Amino acid sequence: MPTILLTGANRGIGKALAETYVADGWDVIGTCRDTSSVNIKGVEFHSLEVTEPDSIEHLKQAVDGRAIDVLWNNAGVYLDKGKGLNQLSDEEWLKTFHINTIAPMRLASAFVDNVANSNNKVMAFTSSQMASIKRNGGGAYAYRSSKTALNMAVNCLSQEVASRGVSCVVLHPGWVETDMGGSEADITVETSAKGMKNVVDPINPKLQNSYNGLFFNYDGSPIPW
Ligand SMILES: NC(=O)c1ccc[n+]([C@@H]2O[C@H](COP(=O)([O-])OP(=O)(O)OC[C@H]3O[C@@H](n4cnc5c(N)ncnc54)[C@H](OP(=O)(O)O)[C@@H]3O)[C@@H](O)[C@H]2O)c1
Repeated sequence: MPTILLTGANRGIGKALAETYVADGWDVIGTCRDTSSVNIKGVEFHSLEVTEPDSIEHLKQAVDGRAIDVLWNNAGVYLDKGKGLNQLSDEEWLKTFHINTIAPMRLASAFVDNVANSNNKVMAFTSSQMASIKRNGGGAYAYRSSKTALNMAVNCLSQEVASRGVSCVVLHPGWVETDMGGSEADITVETSAKGMKNVVDPINPKLQNSYNGLFFNYDGSPIPW
């Protein structure tokens, strides 16, 4: 069975992704900060604070030698929701970058060998349409800039790992009903998770040129940078 390593698997879109992969028979390694109160049937949970190098190293040792078909960096924050530039502190902006931009890249480095040793060889990153400069609606300085920077970093990574057969994709999950997305959102977590899984499922080294370094909506349509 293929294996996925998924961050932020305890709630929201990550939980729905975990449940969708379990239902499809995958081995699911889920991470969250507090494993004591989480129990999703079929998910092997490990503790991970994505900004802590020691926490990443601990997880790395726990999955040492295992092939990971899909590494999915999903955990993220939207700390400046509803805040203007003048209400946003440097600390909030830097923390947003740490969680949304830097941590996914550190995790990609930590697990690239596991991914390269798998069949599918995929690194997926939950970004956001709010990262798109072409579709920018303004505001949300920290969140938007952190996800735009993530997109650039993933595109850089896609060039570095291409020769190993690894494909890196960034995905917009839609506007989704979660703690982050709110109750007015367009789609359910199930619709988002199933849609994104359908986008990622066909990716393998043979189709690398159609996916590596690209930005997709949850329905598979391309999103402009
Ligand atoms: N919802 C939307 O409409 C929407 C739209 C576009 C993009 N996205 C993106 O989709 C992803 C998931 O969003 P969501 O709506 O499911 O959000 P959510 O319900 O707020 O869940 C966020 C997840 O990220 C985890 N997380 C946050 N900071 C972390 C840290 N420092 N270390 C480890 N885990 C951390 C949370 O863990 P805890 O439970 O420990 O806090 C939680 O599992 C995010 O990257 C988000 O930017 C969402």
